[in-house]
Amino acid sequence: MNNQPIGVFDSGYGGLTILKEIVEVLPEYDYLYLGDNARAPYGNKSFDTVYQYTLQSVKWFFEQGCSLVILACNTASAKALRSIQQNDLPELDQHKRVLGVIRPTSEVIGNYSKTHHVGVLGTTGTIQSESYLIEISKFFPEIIVAQEACPEWVSLVEENKYNTVEADGLVKLHIDNILQKDKDIDTFLLACTHYPLLIDKIKQHTPDGISVVSQGKIIAESLKDYLKRHQSLTENCSKNGSRVFFTTGDVVDFNAHASLFFGAEVLANKLILP
Ligand code: DGL
Repeated sequence: MNNQPIGVFDSGYGGLTILKEIVEVLPEYDYLYLGDNARAPYGNKSFDTVYQYTLQSVKWFFEQGCSLVILACNTASAKALRSIQQNDLPELDQHKRVLGVIRPTSEVIGNYSKTHHVGVLGTTGTIQSESYLIEISKFFPEIIVAQEACPEWVSLVEENKYNTVEADGLVKLHIDNILQKDKDIDTFLLACTHYPLLIDKIKQHTPDGISVVSQGKIIAESLKDYLKRHQSLTENCSKNGSRVFFTTGDVVDFNAHASLFFGAEVLANKLILP
């Protein structure tokens, strides 16, 4: 059987919120998911560490036959994508492609805002990279972007603490902080693939009139469009409808949590990266 899946990568579970939407829009393709749970979170790691981990994972996807890999992790997209695209891909295989989530999100996020004030909520790594400030200004120069790092939100999700007093406190803290930076925000972008799991809590502490945007549907639509425009790459992606999951972490833990993110049963395999 021709097996050239589309690779989907995240530091852990978060990318499953993206894969879930991709599978809805493009069900016919084969997908190979890797969560680097053993080394998550990436959000507070150095530029070089995130780059090395991500590159190692991309090479693994290529070895599995993937011609296209999506970095479904904002932190990896912010810290590793450009180096991989510019420095590594030409040497590894110039016919393969690695895409991230920041650019496709930035291409449309301005359309959600009427006040032209957008609030970006992400990991420390994503926020410090200023990638969203840079990318959004290219597509929507009129949009004013306020940013807030919410480093604890990933742990709330990883540790299954969505509905706790601790979650209330930490979600409210960062929403209040970003609104203090800019009170005219009418759109929050959840610029971390873990945060959609906290969306009910985030909405609960978000004042009326502010919409909360997750990336899943945006990335799925953008990928559909990309595949349409890149026929030769599309032909290298197999279509048997398979979904295969790998984690570098504990498989039993992964399976228990992953179904929440993916919305369907997940039975993962263990990957040991050297
Ligand atoms: N899911 C990752 C993202 O979108 C963050 C999780 C982490 O810190 O590892 O940025």
